[in-house]
Amino acid sequence: MAGGFAVSKAGAGHRQFKGKITWYVWICGIIAATSGLMFGYDIGISGGVTAMDDFLVRFFPAVYARKHRAKENNYCKFDDQRLQLFTSSLYLAALAASFVASRVCTRFGRKRTMQAASVFFLIGSGLCAGAVNLVMLIIGRVCLGVGVGFGNQAAPLFLSEIAPAHIRGALNILFQLNVTIGILIASVVNYFASNVHPVGWRYSLGGAAAPAAVLFLGSLVITETPTSLVERGRADAGRATLEKIRGTAEVDDEYEEIRSACEHAAALREEERPYRRLMRPESRPPLVIAIAMQVFQQFTGINAIMFYAPVLFQTMGFESDGSLLSAVVTGGVNVISTIVSIVLVDKVGRRKLLLEACAQMLVAQTAVGGIMLVHVRADNNPSRGWAVSIVVLICVYVSSFAWSWGPLGWLIPSETFPLETRTAGFSFAVSSNMLFTFLIAQAFLSMMCSMRAYIFFFFAVWIVAMGVFVLALLPETKGVSIDEMVDRVWRRHWFWKRCFGDADEAKINNC
Ligand code: BGC
Repeated sequence: MAGGFAVSKAGAGHRQFKGKITWYVWICGIIAATSGLMFGYDIGISGGVTAMDDFLVRFFPAVYARKHRAKENNYCKFDDQRLQLFTSSLYLAALAASFVASRVCTRFGRKRTMQAASVFFLIGSGLCAGAVNLVMLIIGRVCLGVGVGFGNQAAPLFLSEIAPAHIRGALNILFQLNVTIGILIASVVNYFASNVHPVGWRYSLGGAAAPAAVLFLGSLVITETPTSLVERGRADAGRATLEKIRGTAEVDDEYEEIRSACEHAAALREEERPYRRLMRPESRPPLVIAIAMQVFQQFTGINAIMFYAPVLFQTMGFESDGSLLSAVVTGGVNVISTIVSIVLVDKVGRRKLLLEACAQMLVAQTAVGGIMLVHVRADNNPSRGWAVSIVVLICVYVSSFAWSWGPLGWLIPSETFPLETRTAGFSFAVSSNMLFTFLIAQAFLSMMCSMRAYIFFFFAVWIVAMGVFVLALLPETKGVSIDEMVDRVWRRHWFWKRCFGDADEAKINNC
């Protein structure tokens, strides 16, 4: 974007780098963020597909029979481990892949890692769309999972590294915006595909190839990040790229910061491997926060909605079509609210968004639980009015997640690790996300069957814990340049400062 020289408005005392917010930085950001489109498409597609009768008849006939048994308990219609494995296998594969991806990311760069992600994704979508049996279907899901593991590792880091500090939040959230667009597109595809018998599900699953193709082609045009180039010994290319993305040759200060961070990181890596280094006290603050953000993100219960919205709405008595349509509505709310986050994150900061969302989610979850407890019993459907109020409350809940824990779960871990542990540390964020997404995907339908409406209270309790965590342990990182985090953030935090060298040994041990 043409614009005057931008400076980091991080606050008094922060270093300010010269440079414009160029069109090129936006184009690279928009393309890299399509990696989120693949992730989102996957999240959104499986719930709708598992609600399609043609799919159930072909791969899960027992679930199909149970679903149509008139007397089946409302909360237990879809409780089947193998059906849940269809959804969750992807996340297990992504979990394992994220550790490999962290090495690929350091060794071959963020851009190549994203390219590899798109190739795995293309293969996976082909296998799923053409599946003739359950094994082929699951292998396809595993390939998609590897694609997600690679993409989610590389894209948020790429975005945070190319962004000028004062718009890092906004640029990074393009990833999450794509996740939400992917989820929405998937619900729309499911809505139409469910009326195409008997092969609609093949269109739904094959559609995953589209975002992968976009990322693959796009990745041929984007640059590598200056940090990754310098880190891999290509200092001149790194400097040239920095000049290009900042739209000026006056990048000495920023280049110097990147160069010295790379030099420092290389020296530390010589001494100790990144994964070992992550176990040191001074790595603890970003590591604990990265893992906690992701675990909490999943314990908001968001994926109970994202994966199983159509199933959940059928539980409340909506017809198959009506429930897919409601999923489209919640998907739309998710996208629009993420835009709110892009606008606000670098102005109001991370902490305020997270805390406001905790309050809003708490109210919405408790209200949904209360209505379901009274009006949705095992063998009856709620009245239309109550069913619609539940959909509205779910939208209230989704909107607050979308401007807070959704994007910030990815942003904060990508901006808080120093270079020497960045890819290794971020892989813990990705793998925690995948592990807990897997657990929720695998367990939710059984939990709903046994806990019924109380499941919403279960998530509400977690939300209270998240609020306390933010208040006590999450410092504000708005506008601070990545390589200044230690001095500007951790060493000044009431609790985390004890993890750094200038405290005495006993305190370090208490960290
Ligand atoms: C989460 C996903 C979730 C999505 C919803 C992402 O940040 O990691 O698990 O489904 O947001 O928009």
